[in-house]
Amino acid sequence: MPLFNLKINGSRHTVDVDPGTPLLWALRDHLELVGTKYGCGIAQCGACTVHVDGAATRACAMPVSAVGERAVTTIEGLSANGDHPVQRAWLQHDVAQCGYCQAGQIMTAAALLNTNPQPSDAEIESAMNGNICRCGTYLRIKAAIRTAAGSA
Ligand code: FES
Ligand code: FES
Repeated sequence: MPLFNLKINGSRHTVDVDPGTPLLWALRDHLELVGTKYGCGIAQCGACTVHVDGAATRACAMPVSAVGERAVTTIEGLSANGDHPVQRAWLQHDVAQCGYCQAGQIMTAAALLNTNPQPSDAEIESAMNGNICRCGTYLRIKAAIRTAAGSA
């Protein structure tokens, strides 16, 4: 199989996988970056969200061969000590319930604030719309994003 040299969380990693392998499985099964979760596998739930060149991206729907030289950031690489403003706000609001969806929620929220540091409620709802939470933590997610944006 071909080798793919990926830029992940600031380091180079080589994976030996079929070109069509979803990035999600390269991360989880080959690089042990298991913070990124598998939910639906069809780009419908957001559990697998990572950043690709800063944009929120569904890792289950991106083949490894499509990543190229773009920089991938996973929840493990979002901050050095779990202290990204979004992560701090998540703790402050005690957002997580079971936690399964939360890495994806945080990555989507962080990508939103990177491009729009002061989003309106409508912009938060629009950006977070594709991230499903079976525990229904949506109100706390929204509050935490407002806090992270400094607009609470
Ligand atoms: S697992 Fe990728 S969007 Fe659901
Ligand atoms: S916290 Fe349980 S699925 Fe979101």
